[in-house]
Amino acid sequence: MKIIMANDHGAVDLKKRILNFLEKKGFEITNLGVDEEISVDYPDMAEKACKQYLQGGYDFGILCCGTGIGISIAANKIDGIRAALPQNAFAAEMAKEHNNANFIVFGGRIDYSDSIESMLDAYINTDFGGDRHLRRVDKIMALEK
Ligand code: RB5
Repeated sequence: MKIIMANDHGAVDLKKRILNFLEKKGFEITNLGVDEEISVDYPDMAEKACKQYLQGGYDFGILCCGTGIGISIAANKIDGIRAALPQNAFAAEMAKEHNNANFIVFGGRIDYSDSIESMLDAYINTDFGGDRHLRRVDKIMALEK
């Protein structure tokens, strides 16, 4: 799998943790985020990763900021992006099955009830449900017009 990833200074440790987890699985990750806690603006990070994703060749993207909120709001402003900010592993699974999210987002300053690794596994190992969910996702995408 090929993954595009970006983060701001609020999620440097989390980004490294995710990179380590996914690289061990043999995934190829393009890291566009900051590797040190130098202050950057999360909309710029979202824009970089989402635009690169839209060029094609990636299975999905991962974004991280302090809460995950700002960077997901920014990503969802970009046509073609459905960025999900799951609360736990169930929501991560639903982000794929129901919403066919192409980005999954986490907060580096958030305490989750499930591990980030379990949320990533839930998202990665789930397929989009199609059918009625496709109708609803199509309606989301129609809102861009
Ligand atoms: C940066 O301080 C912080 O605002 C950012 O990482 C994120 O939490 C925004 O939603």
